[in-house]
Amino acid sequence: MTEQRGNWTSSAGFVLAATGSAIGLGNLWKFPFITWENNGGAFVLVYLVCIAAVGLPIMMAELLVGRKTQKSAVGALKEAAGPAWGLVGLWGVLCGFTLLSYYTVIAGWSLFYFVQTIGWTASGFPAGLATGDLFGEQVSNAPLQLMMSLGFSIATVSVVYFGVQRGIERIARLFLPILFAILVLMLVSALGMSGAGEAIAFIFRPSFSELEPVGVLEALGHSFFTLSLGMGAMITYGSYIARNQSLVKAAGTIVLLDTVIALVATVIMFSVIFSVAGMAEQVGGSTVGMLFISLPELFYTEVPFGIILGPLFYVLVALAALTSTMSLLEVVTSYVIDEHGIERHKATVMCGSAVFVFTIFAALSFSDVPFLSTLAVFEGKTGWFETADHFVSNWMLPTGGLAITIAVGWFMTREQSESELVDETTPGWFSYGVWRFFIRYVAPVAVAAIVIAVLRGTDFS
Ligand code: PFF
Repeated sequence: MTEQRGNWTSSAGFVLAATGSAIGLGNLWKFPFITWENNGGAFVLVYLVCIAAVGLPIMMAELLVGRKTQKSAVGALKEAAGPAWGLVGLWGVLCGFTLLSYYTVIAGWSLFYFVQTIGWTASGFPAGLATGDLFGEQVSNAPLQLMMSLGFSIATVSVVYFGVQRGIERIARLFLPILFAILVLMLVSALGMSGAGEAIAFIFRPSFSELEPVGVLEALGHSFFTLSLGMGAMITYGSYIARNQSLVKAAGTIVLLDTVIALVATVIMFSVIFSVAGMAEQVGGSTVGMLFISLPELFYTEVPFGIILGPLFYVLVALAALTSTMSLLEVVTSYVIDEHGIERHKATVMCGSAVFVFTIFAALSFSDVPFLSTLAVFEGKTGWFETADHFVSNWMLPTGGLAITIAVGWFMTREQSESELVDETTPGWFSYGVWRFFIRYVAPVAVAAIVIAVLRGTDFS
């Protein structure tokens, strides 16, 4: 039996679930790193502009398509824009499938570091431990990788199995407040560190001479990833929204919370890094470096109350990842439920298992497994994991996002979109005309710029 639609229990429940989808490894793992790489200030400012000018209008567009049609990605785009657009929905489902398959592996690392930090809190940080080596050992330990990603997959499947209300919404309601509380604790601790002033200046003082043009496109590309746009996740979540809720208000809240959390996470990490002599030079090189190599040690050597905050931080990463993985699995599962008439429980287990096969490939990419560790399709990307990540971030999300903006901006009538966005609940700051201009012109041009840059060989991942 398929579930009934329109079934978030309340507007707050939906906003929390969608915010949970948006807040994830992108905020805690990718954003601080790309901010670092692009020299802070100016990049952050450009990112904020991209979020407001492109991310927010597309968030509204995805939500409105979902709510209007009450269908998941494929059916929704078919009904809203025409039969051929179902292919774009299918592309989104494939993107969700692929992203979930390797995102689960990184999420598994947070479990490893949670267990490690609990051990260090209990019996002290081992003197002389090289955290870089520790990271290398854990990623190349095949049984460990498989176990952790299996654990995380089971957690994701268990949530989606219980459906929108009893699974996704319930977990989001429970976990997001915990996540916010942990972040506030960490922020207070980080702001007390000597490097806090320098960190804030680095993040918020723009210096445009330090921003390369490719950084602008990177900011734009990341605004898709961080807001869970471009692959129908927000269409799917939108399909469960009740009629009496303001989509504009909801989209504004989700985008604002996601952005604030990304900035807070960055302030926390950089405050720690700038407080330690020589650390600024050491960090960098790789995204994982900051989160899984530099920070674990610093919790035990530098951060006030680090022995408590260390394990809490990796719980935070795991929770943020779970509220994202469940939305990814929901995209795939709801497609199978809606388009193939398969019952939710069966559909969830089927989809979760199918994704896990590819998670195995990603998890083994760091061990000496032929093909999986050596695959080289894209220049500079080695192994299944890096290939999948590159394909999703550079190719799938921007092309999916471009197609969705065109579908909503050019293939839906003014009446169709206006009736979803404008009613008595719409906040005063919203102008339908401005939104329509952005979704028809600004967003497609901006996203097309990413696609063109990728076609010309720019690498964003
Ligand atoms: N927004 C998530 C993050 O920032 O980590 C990633 C993501 C989740 C993208 C769910 C897309 C999605 F459907």
